[in-house]
Parts: sequence; structure tokens; C-alpha cells
Amino acid sequence: MHPMLNIAVKAARRAGQIINRASLDIGQLTVGVKQQADFVTEVDKLAENAILEILGETYPEHAILAEESGSSGRADAEYQWIIDPLDGTTNFIHGFPQYAVSIALAHKGVLSHAVVYDTTRNDLYTASKGAGAFLNEKRMRVSKRNRLDEALLGTGFPYRSFAHIDTYLAIFRELAQKTAGMRRPGSAALDLAYVAAGRLDGFWEFGLSPWDMAAGALLISEAGGLVGGPTGEPTYLDSGNMIAGNPKIFAQLLQTIAPHLTPALKR
Ligand code: IPD
Ligand code: CA
Ligand code: CA
Ligand code: CA
Repeated sequence: MHPMLNIAVKAARRAGQIINRASLDIGQLTVGVKQQADFVTEVDKLAENAILEILGETYPEHAILAEESGSSGRADAEYQWIIDPLDGTTNFIHGFPQYAVSIALAHKGVLSHAVVYDTTRNDLYTASKGAGAFLNEKRMRVSKRNRLDEALLGTGFPYRSFAHIDTYLAIFRELAQKTAGMRRPGSAALDLAYVAAGRLDGFWEFGLSPWDMAAGALLISEAGGLVGGPTGEPTYLDSGNMIAGNPKIFAQLLQTIAPHLTPALKR
């Protein structure tokens, strides 16, 4: 394992310990509301601090983009860590066991290492650019399913920003009729890890943040899948609007989605 990935794994496991310990007593959680339906707990912050401490000890010169504490470091830093300490906070608060730690490293803007850690199952998803993707050190590949009518898709419902809800529902209506089914597990990072592991054949969500997507995106591309924006463009990390899948399903998703896209979603 590359030393940088190794440190990321150490940080993710440390955060996982904090999350798992706190999950034993969710009645004690103090829940803050950032905005309507957007929650944060002290566990999100403790987990993030633990990650930042471990990464900072080894790589003090690296820049950071983390959900709870924002960005820091030099604008011209070669390396940037993109961190979601607890992806699926709403699930966590409810004791619904589907959440994860997500850590990615970008080198000169290119995703180079990724960890998604499913703390409740102790499943570790990792990837390094050019070196493949792994689930608990076993090589992962995207599914081979190539028919949309047999495909199982992951998605995220709009719940906080409703800018694209009509488009979302129109696409949902069509995909509900054309696919084997859709799931909304509630952790985008894990949804993407599932695409990489071949458990989901595709995924789509609008309005995500870079820390929800960065690690999962590298897992998918290293597992032989494709990720992009709604028209296939590579700007999903900026726009937050993301389509992913094995290559065959990705292409069919783009085709299905295209007629519904508004100008704002084509950017
Ligand atoms: C959320 C989860 C969810 C997705 C949301 C994200 P958070 O992250 O990934 O699946 O639908 O858009 O914000 O806030 O729980 O880290
Ligand atoms: Ca959040
Ligand atoms: Ca998140
Ligand atoms: Ca989060």
C-alpha cells in the first residue's frame, strides 16, 4: 500500500472508532442544525479533528478541504485532502447503519488516493490511481450488467436544495420504469463504493459536495467504471451533479437523462 494511502487508512479507522463508540449511545448525541434537514453532531467534528490530526502530523504542508472545518493550507499546495468525516449523518443520528468515513487525496487536482470506510461493517474500500480498487484488500470491479432493465441504481433524493427537484422527479419517473430498481441508502460515499464493488450498476444524484464524491469517484474509476456530470463532462466535483456506473450503464444513464436536463444541469 502506498504510504499516503496508508496514512489515510489509519485516519479513517481512527475516525471509525470514534463513530462506532458514539453509535452505542445515540440517545446522548447533541444534534445541531446547519440549515433545514442538514444536521451535524459532535461526532462529525470529533471524527474530523482526529483525521486532521493524523494527516497533519505526517503531511503538515498539504492543503485540506473538510466538510466541518472548511479549507485550509496554501492555495498553491500540490496536495489536497478532501474529507468527509461522517457521510450519512442523518442515518447515524437515527441509528440507521449506513454511513462512512470518506478521505481522498488530490495531487495537482488529480485524485490519487481514496478511502471509504464503512464503520458499522468494518469494510475498507481503497484505491490508488493506476493501482486498482480494493475491498478489504481484495480487488474490486464494477458489475458487468449491461441492460438498464436489469440494473440496480443508487441515488440520493433532493432533501435540502430543491433547485433541480422537477428535473430529478422527471428522471426518476423514467428510470423507475426502465430499471430493476433504485435505492436511496443515504451515504453518497458508500453508494459510490457499492458501484465500484459491483453491488450497484449505476448511481445519480444532484447537489452533492466534493467531499461526498471524491473518494468514491476514484474507487469507481479504478474498478473500471465511469463517473461524470449529467452530460458526461468531468466537472462533477465542482457542480455537485454526478452520474456514475459501469461503462455500459453509465452510457445509458447519460442517454436517458439528456432529454430532461435544464441549462443549469448541463454546465
Ligand atoms: C450526505 C449524504 C447523502 C447525500 C447528501 C449528503 P452528509 O452527506 O452523502 O447520501 O444525499 O447529499 O450531503 O451530510 O451526511 O455527510
Ligand atoms: Ca453534512
Ligand atoms: Ca457527505
Ligand atoms: Ca458528513
